[in-house]
Amino acid sequence: MKIFSLVVVIIQGQYAPTASVPDTTTGEFREVSCWHCDAVNMTQCDMIGEMKPCLGENDVCMIEVRKREGELEQICMGCKSRRACLDNKKQNARGRWRNHQCRPEPWWKKAPSVCRQCCNDSDNCARDFVLLNDGFGPFDQSEWNEDLLL
Ligand SMILES: *[C@@H]1O[C@H](CO)[C@@H](O)[C@H](O)[C@H]1NC(C)=O
Ligand SMILES: *[C@@H]1O[C@H](CO)[C@@H](O)[C@H](O)[C@H]1NC(C)=O
Repeated sequence: MKIFSLVVVIIQGQYAPTASVPDTTTGEFREVSCWHCDAVNMTQCDMIGEMKPCLGENDVCMIEVRKREGELEQICMGCKSRRACLDNKKQNARGRWRNHQCRPEPWWKKAPSVCRQCCNDSDNCARDFVLLNDGFGPFDQSEWNEDLLL
């Protein structure tokens, strides 16, 4: 019986939830939440999406908007690690201007466009960003490349 209790204590100790433990580097509680969805447009994103707290190192809101022949194809948003989000975002504007993956200009139809952004200034930062221009997000590459991590 005593051995059994000890085992339970050890197991509980090992698997104790850590979500509410203060960040040891800052000593502060920080909670970022992001709107999550994987949808074909913002109407659907708002309908099927949900707000979720970001856990662990997934502490920024990522945004990804795909277009094909000028038409929206996919909108994806949710918590992601800062490193992974910023790495993906670098693909926005790699290489020559005409080869950039992110072509948010409404007249661009020549090739598919994938635009990414990362934000953490409010729980609704990702939604607010893509809701610009009736759910297309900004039309300027510069706004997709701007640093929105505050
Ligand atoms: C958004 O997508 C849904 C599902 O495909 C479609 O029914 C709706 O008409 C679309 N809304 C807009 C504004 O394009
Ligand atoms: C947002 O990200 C920045 C840059 O990494 C960081 O300094 C800041 O603490 C973050 N803000 C919140 C509310 O998490």
